[in-house]
Amino acid sequence: MNRLRTAILISGRGSNMRAILEAANATDYPAEAVLVLSNRPEAEGLSHADRHGIATAAVDHKPFGNDREAFERAMQVVLEQHRIEMIVLAGFMRILTPWFVAKWSGRMINIHPSLLPKYPGLNTHQRAIDAGDAEAGCSVHWVTEGVDQGGVIAQARVPIRPDDTSETLAQRILPEEHKLYPKAVRLAALEIMQRSQPAI
Ligand code: GRF
Repeated sequence: MNRLRTAILISGRGSNMRAILEAANATDYPAEAVLVLSNRPEAEGLSHADRHGIATAAVDHKPFGNDREAFERAMQVVLEQHRIEMIVLAGFMRILTPWFVAKWSGRMINIHPSLLPKYPGLNTHQRAIDAGDAEAGCSVHWVTEGVDQGGVIAQARVPIRPDDTSETLAQRILPEEHKLYPKAVRLAALEIMQRSQPAI
């Protein structure tokens, strides 16, 4: 089976990354996880990936200061070295420039802990509670120029309870993320492969 060479980009603990690596162990999974890349060399997720025999790399954003594009060009070199065909953002905490987004247009997805289009950006759990919403959840979406604005691929919902804090709500949503993301990566990979097939 043809599988897309996939990079997972992380910044921290990498629990979504783990869920995807597990799914990608199956040889009939359309995304092959070949690289885990972090902008933080100390990210916990890197050592986990390493232990599982996946190539890892860190491109520290700090030396690049405010020059986001220079940082992304350094990432791009690594992505090209590994002949990456799809990018999965999993807790990657850098805003991407239009240059990078355009380069990966239709080949890069992200998970966001809200029911998009509600609450793009940060503090999603608290914002859902403050708004008095009855439910919250997570969304996997294509990455476009606007932060968390791209087309939604899949969503999962959980109830918001009266005594919820942002922490308890985040704890309820996270296991849903771990179920949703591997399914959405599969859908996205299949769509990318279908798109790149020559018309008959
Ligand atoms: C997740 O809640 C994800 O939705 C958000 O950042 C968090 C990353 O967690 N984008 P992890 O690193 O996958 O554990």
